[in-house]
Amino acid sequence: MAITSQSRSQLAGAAVLFGSLCIASQSAGAQELELMHFWTSGGEAAAMNVIKEAAEEEGIEWRDAAVAGGSGMNAFQVLQSRVAAGNPPAAMQMHGAQIHQYAEAGLLIDLSDVATSEEWREVIDPNLLRYAEFDGSWVGIPFNIHRPNYVWANKEIMDRYGGNVPDNWNKFFELGDRMKADGIIPLASGGQPWQDLLLWELVLLGDQGQDFHRRALIEQDVSAIDSQEMRAAFETFRKVLDYTDPNRANRDWNLATSMVMNGDAAMQVMGDWALGEFISAGLEAGSDYICEASPGTDGMYVWNADFWGFFKGLGEDGVEGQRTLATLTMSADVQEQFNVLKGSIPARTDIEANQFTPCGQQGIADRAAALEAGTMVASFAQNSAQPTDVRGVYEDVVTQFVGNPAMTADQAVSQILDGLRSL
Ligand code: GAL
Repeated sequence: MAITSQSRSQLAGAAVLFGSLCIASQSAGAQELELMHFWTSGGEAAAMNVIKEAAEEEGIEWRDAAVAGGSGMNAFQVLQSRVAAGNPPAAMQMHGAQIHQYAEAGLLIDLSDVATSEEWREVIDPNLLRYAEFDGSWVGIPFNIHRPNYVWANKEIMDRYGGNVPDNWNKFFELGDRMKADGIIPLASGGQPWQDLLLWELVLLGDQGQDFHRRALIEQDVSAIDSQEMRAAFETFRKVLDYTDPNRANRDWNLATSMVMNGDAAMQVMGDWALGEFISAGLEAGSDYICEASPGTDGMYVWNADFWGFFKGLGEDGVEGQRTLATLTMSADVQEQFNVLKGSIPARTDIEANQFTPCGQQGIADRAAALEAGTMVASFAQNSAQPTDVRGVYEDVVTQFVGNPAMTADQAVSQILDGLRSL
């Protein structure tokens, strides 16, 4: 969902309306907070419950405002309408790009004093500072770091085909052809715009490399977009779709994960929030499932993060509750307990790996190595690399490309360039 430049002015307008309305609308009662998020799958809910229980122990009355829909595909629209009406929740779980847009509109409280007293700067993953801070204020409280560039594979099926997850897309196609000949769905996936954009981004990254990903998506360099590499990425992506099933349209990501769990499909390319589903299903890494980097991205840590953004306008008790929730979310204990269940790794770099599952432990080690090697790659699809209106241009084109088998790579390139020029 793109928050366009037009809607940015709505946000600014909301800042005025909101400033006048919401103090009146917020009850001054005990630390009752309305908390909006989109974590409704098994693993997501189990992880968020860690935060909820810790908050209630600190005296917060948690009014849950969950909005189902993977990656916030519905929640961000609900939030924008609430903000435009001058009636935002006390806090929203959102990505870095949304944090910056609401901070830019002056709608988020500044937690710099808490950041200083809790010494967050000393422990936070340095990649997250770009979104945790805005214009000298501390506006985003990170829950985690997620890693979108994973393949989740059914161990029993993979063992029938040699046991190795393909580390490039040509090997994936060879393996997929053998699976299709045996009536096995090689790739479980969900045909929703956010999922298709994520798959497309990972195919482009795996096929064309980190430098091209930066030029084409982060810099929107016309010579990179209007290139043979970009056309090749679209053609590979088109071929990948041939290894999914015909019922993928609008399938939720966690239902695709279940297909891998149940042996209805061999693999899923999805972020490590899928790990939370395997964990909540009581399945074991190595014996039930395999986690590997998506084809061509070994050694790269593609990342996105989830943050609390705390909205202004509450009374004294409410603000106290927001500060309490921010502090406990960043605490070492909660960071460990939450991320073990969420499938992500902590936003803090000082958390031991021993409580994590094997895939989580590998992730913590890989993050440290990628920080050293300069191979942390902010995910464009997951709102961690560009503003939502830029992301929206690419998402709209990829969605059309998936929906229209006759659409060519040339047409896709032209539509991206036209869309960027229209911003
Ligand atoms: C991502 C989000 C994750 C996970 C996933 C599926 O965008 O950062 O925390 O929830 O969507 O909903």
